[in-house]
Amino acid sequence: MDNKLDQNRREFLTKGAVLAAAAGTLALTASSSAHAAEAVATTGATASAEEPKAITGYIKEPKNLKDVLGNARKIMSTCAACDVAGAGRCNGKGPCGEGVPGMGGMRQSFVRNIEAFEGMSLTMRSLHNVSKPKMETELLGVKLAMPILTGVTGGLTYNMGAANKLAFDGEVMTEDKYARGIIEGAANSGCLGWAADGIEDPLDTYKRRLDVVKEFKGRAIAQIKPRTQQEIFERIDLVQNAGAPFFAIDIDSAGRAARALPGNTVEPKDLKKLKEIVKYAKIPFMAKGVMTVEEALMCAEAGCGAIVVSNHGGRVLSSTPATMHVLPAIVKAVRDRGYKMPILVDGGVRDGGDVLKALASGAHAVLVGRPMLRASLGGGVKGVEMQFKRFQGELESSMVLTGTADVRNVDPAILLQSV
Ligand SMILES: Cc1cc2nc3c(=O)[nH]c(=O)nc-3n(C[C@H](O)[C@H](O)[C@H](O)COP(=O)(O)O)c2cc1C
Repeated sequence: MDNKLDQNRREFLTKGAVLAAAAGTLALTASSSAHAAEAVATTGATASAEEPKAITGYIKEPKNLKDVLGNARKIMSTCAACDVAGAGRCNGKGPCGEGVPGMGGMRQSFVRNIEAFEGMSLTMRSLHNVSKPKMETELLGVKLAMPILTGVTGGLTYNMGAANKLAFDGEVMTEDKYARGIIEGAANSGCLGWAADGIEDPLDTYKRRLDVVKEFKGRAIAQIKPRTQQEIFERIDLVQNAGAPFFAIDIDSAGRAARALPGNTVEPKDLKKLKEIVKYAKIPFMAKGVMTVEEALMCAEAGCGAIVVSNHGGRVLSSTPATMHVLPAIVKAVRDRGYKMPILVDGGVRDGGDVLKALASGAHAVLVGRPMLRASLGGGVKGVEMQFKRFQGELESSMVLTGTADVRNVDPAILLQSV
C-alpha cells in the first residue's frame, strides 16, 4: 500500500479530530468523529471565503480507476483512499489505525460488513449456455441497467475534508459539483444516484443538490433525514417538485438526535409516523437503515415502497452485525408474509461478485457508498461512470461463471457461506 498520509491526515486519523478541510472551519472531538458522518458542520457545506486550496499532482484526465483513486486520495484529508488489492478497496484495516475507516465508520460495524462478503464464496459453474446474462432490472418503476445504485453520500467539509479545494479539473470542489458527479455519472450508466440531506446542511445546500436531481428528472433520487414530520413533509414537497421517482429516509440517523441543534431535529419513527409519511407522499418512500425482521415487517405494514438493509456503512452504531448477515432472515420473513416490497442492501459492496452475493441472498439491488464517493471526488462524472462500468464488467463475468442468466432470478445455491 503506497498511502503516505500527510501530517494533517495522521492527526485526524489517530486523534479522531476532523480537520477542517483547507478552510479550517470545524473540529470534532475524538469520540464524535466516528459519529461525524453527515452531521455537525459549523458552516454548512459551502466553501469558505478563503482562496481555494490548490493541490499538486492530480492526473487531470484520469484514464482509469487507479488515476481516479489517486486524485481522490489527494483531495481528501479524512480518508487515505486505500488501494488494497488494487481495486480501491478499503477493508478498514489500513493506515487509519484506531481511527475511522473510510470517512467515518465505526471500526467493528464497518469491518464486519466487508468481512461478511469476504467470508462468502460463489460456486463456479462453467458448463451451461449463459454467455450474455441479463443485468437489467427495475426498481419502483425505474429501469436500471444493473441492480446498483450509488450510496447516499455528501458532506465535503465535515465528511471528506474536501471542501474549498481545487479538484483534479482545476475547479473548486463544491457540494453541487460532487452531487453532479454522483447523479450524472449514475444516470449516464443507466442507474440511479442520490442527493443527500445532511443533518445540519442549510436548506439551501439541500435545494442546490435537488437542482441537480431536477436536471436528471426521473433518473435521480433524494434522501431526507428522519426530521420532524412537518420538516419531512416540506422536504418531500421539494423532492417531488424536483421530479425524483422516489425518496428515502435514513431512519438509522435517529441516533443523531442528541447532537442535533435546535431547528435540526431528528427522531426515531414509529409505525404511526411511518404511515403518515407514506400517506403524505405521492411517490414511494424507501426506509433506509433497517436491520431487524420486526422493523422490516413494520415498514411493509406501513406501506413503504422498499427498504434498504443498512447499518449506514458502519457509521452510526459501533457494533452492529454485518448487513449481509441479517439480510436473509429479513427477506424470508417479508416474503413469508406475502409482501412484494423490494429489499435492497448496502455496506461493504466492493465488486461485481459482492453484488451477485447480495442478489443470491435475496436482495433486489445494492447501494455502493464509498467507492462511488471517491470516484466522484477523483474523477467527477467520468470517474463515477468508470466505477459503474467496472462493477458491470465484474457482475457480468461473475454471472457467466456461476451460470446465472438473469439478475432478477439468482439461485441462492450459488452462495456458500464459508471460504
Ligand atoms: C461520507 C458518507 C456520508 C454518508 N451520508 C449519508 C447520508 O446523508 N444519508 C444516508 O442515508 N446515508 C449516508 N451514508 C451511508 C451510505 O448511504 C451507505 O449506507 C454506506 O456508505 C454504504 O456502505 P459502503 O460505503 O461500505 O458502501 C454516508 C456514507 C458516507 C461514507
